[in-house]
Amino acid sequence: MFISNIKIDGFKNLSSVNIDADKQINVICGDNAQGKTNLIEAIWLCSGIKSFRNSKDRDLINLDRQNFSIEISFENNLRKQKIEYKLEKTTVKDKYIKLNGVPLRNSSDLFGNLCCVVFTPEDLFISKGSPDNRRKFIDICASQIKNSYRKVLNQYDEILLQRNFLLKNIGLGKSSPSELDVWDEQMSRLGSYISVIRYIYTKKLNIFAGKLYNEISQGKEQLNIFYESSVFKSLENRNDYNGEMADEYLSMLKKSRQEDIKTGFTTIGVQRDDLICNINGLNCREFGSQGQCRSVALVFKIAQAYILYEETKEAPCILLDDVLSELDAKRQEFVLSRISDMQVFITCCEDIKLNKNKGKTFYIKKGRIINGQ
Ligand SMILES: Nc1ncnc2c1ncn2[C@@H]1O[C@H](COP(=O)(O)OP(=O)(O)OP(=O)(O)O)[C@@H](O)[C@H]1O
Ligand SMILES: [Mg+2]
Repeated sequence: MFISNIKIDGFKNLSSVNIDADKQINVICGDNAQGKTNLIEAIWLCSGIKSFRNSKDRDLINLDRQNFSIEISFENNLRKQKIEYKLEKTTVKDKYIKLNGVPLRNSSDLFGNLCCVVFTPEDLFISKGSPDNRRKFIDICASQIKNSYRKVLNQYDEILLQRNFLLKNIGLGKSSPSELDVWDEQMSRLGSYISVIRYIYTKKLNIFAGKLYNEISQGKEQLNIFYESSVFKSLENRNDYNGEMADEYLSMLKKSRQEDIKTGFTTIGVQRDDLICNINGLNCREFGSQGQCRSVALVFKIAQAYILYEETKEAPCILLDDVLSELDAKRQEFVLSRISDMQVFITCCEDIKLNKNKGKTFYIKKGRIINGQ
């Protein structure tokens, strides 16, 4: 799948952008604060996933404008498609979104059409940062493959919020512990399901990322990734998330109930799980060097693209925001060679030394494309 044309107007600082994209490599070049990341963000928005910068809807509209519009045409061998996304400042809740001319109710309904993998400098620290980042990574990856998974995650988050609220009220003597039962039961089923999906994804990630890591380290280092559950000792061959697994989850919640009431939050569950990355048997979070962590991040992202490709039978579009400049020549070459059959958008401040015969370079200044070739 590849994007053929992008039109953006009024999105943050972008104005009258009209790009006929190359099927393979598109370099967006410009000084700081000219709108490179905004362009990547606008594309990402059309993939149906929340902004990777966590921007609020209202903040997406240019400060001096009343609305923005994005139009992305993309195609594969079988058909051409178009996404239109508009937002008005006055009615920011009512998004005007169309897929192939058909109005959609929510931006999340766009999900699964324009599949993208975005890679930003913050991602470089995925193996070092807090578990939260790794859970988010795996949840986005898994939901790109299985749309219904996102709904389960949202339900779980909602229940977690309610349960934590109740725990605080129990601590204050305003509610009784028995009120937890109804939440615990729902949490157990949803949490078991999330554990299964994450475990299955981690196994795939381990295979793809493990192989890539072996290549990037020229066979010197071995990467192993596994899912660390705060509830289940092992998740191997388990998928009875409405039965046995939910019972086990529930009994763990009961066990930690006193502790939960004392602390005022839920101390076990999928919100506490982690993705462990070991290099040659040593945990990357504690022992990984900077270079190793960068390599892990790279192979995670490439693996995400490969898995998405395998599962959807469609090459995703790769968005590399400012990451190439963060990498040495060897790693740059590694990334580009591994995604050479996918369309890529690369932002950078200087002209990067890519194969000049390939692709297009667009120069951006004050939110406008000043020339394309
Ligand atoms: N709602 C908005 N209205 C107008 N301008 C905005 C809005 N939101 C952000 N901007 C501006 O857009 C500009 C470009 O931001 P962007 O992050 O795309 O820059 P960039 O080219 O990626 O720069 P860098 O190389 O530093 O990453 C910023 O100066 C920011 O202030
Ligand atoms: Mg930027």
